[in-house]
Amino acid sequence: MTNILGIIGYPIGHTFSPLMHNTAIKHLGLDYIYLPFEVKKENMALAIGGLKGLGINGINVTIPHKESVISYLDNLDDNARFIGAVNTIKLEDGRLKGYNTDGLGFLKSLKIDAQENAKGKNIIILGAGGAARAIAIQMALEEANSIIIANRTGERGEELAVHINAKCKMQNVKCKVKAISLRDNSLVEYFKKADIIINTTSVGMIDSNTPLFPYNYISDRHLVCDIVYKPIETKLLKEASVRGARFLNGLGMLIYQGSLSFKIWTGHEMPVEIVKKVLMEELTKT
Ligand SMILES: NC(=O)c1ccc[n+]([C@@H]2O[C@H](COP(=O)([O-])OP(=O)(O)OC[C@H]3O[C@@H](n4cnc5c(N)ncnc54)[C@H](OP(=O)(O)O)[C@@H]3O)[C@@H](O)[C@H]2O)c1
Repeated sequence: MTNILGIIGYPIGHTFSPLMHNTAIKHLGLDYIYLPFEVKKENMALAIGGLKGLGINGINVTIPHKESVISYLDNLDDNARFIGAVNTIKLEDGRLKGYNTDGLGFLKSLKIDAQENAKGKNIIILGAGGAARAIAIQMALEEANSIIIANRTGERGEELAVHINAKCKMQNVKCKVKAISLRDNSLVEYFKKADIIINTTSVGMIDSNTPLFPYNYISDRHLVCDIVYKPIETKLLKEASVRGARFLNGLGMLIYQGSLSFKIWTGHEMPVEIVKKVLMEELTKT
C-alpha cells in the first residue's frame, strides 16, 4: 500500500514541499506520495485525528499551526520540546510524535551554502514567529554571542527572548538574547555590531511590502539571510548585494529541513542536489 506523506497549513498554495518530496520519492523509487492539505485553525483537531484514523505516515506543519499543533500530539522529540513548535509529525506505532527540523535546516544551509556558523557571532533575527523560534534557539545552542529579536509585535518578541534565555540557563549555554520592537531607534546600533541578519518574517514574499527597516543599515560586514524562498532573491537580498554584504536565500533551509523530515519518515537520505536543481528550475520560471 502506498505510504502517504503531506503538509498541512493555511493557506497552503505557496508551498514547494510537495515538489521537493515527490522529486526525492520518484528519484529513489519509493512507494510514497506527498500531498498538500489546506487546514483551517478550526479544523485542526479533526485533521490531526484523521492522520491516525487514516494511517497517514507523516506530515509537515506550516503557517499558522506550528505551535498550536502540539496540543494534539502524543509526544515530542527533545528539539521540538525545546523550541515549542513542530514542523514534522510521524505516526509511530499508532502514536503521533512531533519533531522540529527548521532550526537545524537553517543551520545546515548557513554552514554548507554560506560557509558560516553562529558560534561567537552577533545575530539579529527579524520576526518572532514559528521559524524565528526554531532558528533563534538553534543559533543560541551553537553559542552565538548575542541574539537580538526584532519583531513588529513587541510582546511576542519579548516572550521568545524570555523563553530562550530560560532554556539557555537550563542548558548552561552562554548567549545573550534580547527583544526589541522593529520600530525601536536602537535597531541601527545593533546593526553596527551585528555579523548575521536573518529575516524570518513573511515580508519579502510580496515585493511591494514596506521594508522591515531602512536598508542603509546594511553594510559589507553583514551576512544577510532571508528564509523566504519565493522569490528566490527578495528585495532585502538585492539591497544586501548592492551594499556589498554577503547574502543567503531560503532555498537551502527549505531543502535541508525537508531532507531531515524525509529521513525521519522514510529512513532514506534525500538526493539534495537533484531536488535543488528541480526547485531552482521551478523558482526561476518566468
Ligand atoms: N525556507 C524555509 O524552509 C522556511 C521555513 C519556515 C518558514 N519559512 C517562511 O518564513 C516565514 C515565516 O514563517 P513562520 O512559520 O515563522 O510564520 P509565523 O509564525 O506566522 O510568523 C510570522 C512572523 O512574521 C512577522 N510579520 C508578518 N507580516 C509582517 C509585516 N507586514 N511586518 C512586520 N512583520 C511581519 C510576524 O510579526 P508579528 O508577531 O508582529 O505578527 C511574525 O514575527 C514565511 O514566509 C514562511 O514561508 C521558510
